[in-house]
Amino acid sequence: MLSRLLPAAVAVVACRWDPPEAQLYPEEAAVVRHAVDKRRREFTTVRHCARRALGRLGLPHGPVLPDRHGAPRWPSAVVGSLTHCEGYRAAALARASELAMLGIDVEPHEPLPAGVLDAIARPAERSWIRSAPPGTHWDRLLFSAKEAVYKAWYPRFGEQLEFTQAELRLDPAGTFTARLLTRPADPTAARGVPDPLTGRWLTGGGLVFTALAVPSPGPAPLRP
Ligand SMILES: CC(C)(COP(=O)(O)OP(=O)(O)OC[C@H]1O[C@@H](n2cnc3c(N)ncnc32)[C@H](O)[C@@H]1OP(=O)(O)O)[C@@H](O)C(=O)NCCC(=O)NCCS
Repeated sequence: MLSRLLPAAVAVVACRWDPPEAQLYPEEAAVVRHAVDKRRREFTTVRHCARRALGRLGLPHGPVLPDRHGAPRWPSAVVGSLTHCEGYRAAALARASELAMLGIDVEPHEPLPAGVLDAIARPAERSWIRSAPPGTHWDRLLFSAKEAVYKAWYPRFGEQLEFTQAELRLDPAGTFTARLLTRPADPTAARGVPDPLTGRWLTGGGLVFTALAVPSPGPAPLRP
């Protein structure tokens, strides 16, 4: 499903169960040594997906360790994003020469728990959702799209984002845009990053899928 939302340059590998052959490197196992079984399983399986995705790109794999804010640390030639929820884990990876930013998210296609929409949505987003067409849990889609934006944004800029620091417009045709209401501290990192960002979404099999990919800018033009 996710691969339908992303360009062909992205290797997407998803698992609907935890394969027994999935293994962690010792450094990765150390990260989850005190975690509950559910957390260990999702952490392990999503890394299994990432290793297979790297293989599809023709790249070797090594430990995928989290940075201080939880973002997966990839080799510098790679951009990637991971997601997991009940019954689904996925990794999406691409060569950094192809993509500058990549974020994916999967959520159960169910209404958000009471109170969450008020915490994550801006007034314009709440107002749009109130009159949106039936058949889609737009609150959950908004949440997922914001998570995908964050997973693309953070590795690029190294900055955390509050949910209300991006204003999203959801399009029932299967796209969304995200206007960032904050400027990155390092404006050179924003070169070639469109404003607004555009992502895609779909629902199926009881899940909502969101994804965002920004192509790498081509090489700087040569001076005459
Ligand atoms: C980090 C966060 C985005 C994860 O989303 P989630 O729906 O809870 O969980 P998912 O299963 O989809 O994704 C988890 C994976 O996200 C990745 N991740 C965690 N922090 C990340 C970050 N700062 N940047 C990029 N990816 C990150 C990790 O790979 C993690 O899996 P792992 O711990 O097994 O390696 C979420 O918990 C969070 O902190 N959100 C607050 C910030 C935010 O979303 N702001 C919205 C701005 S518009």
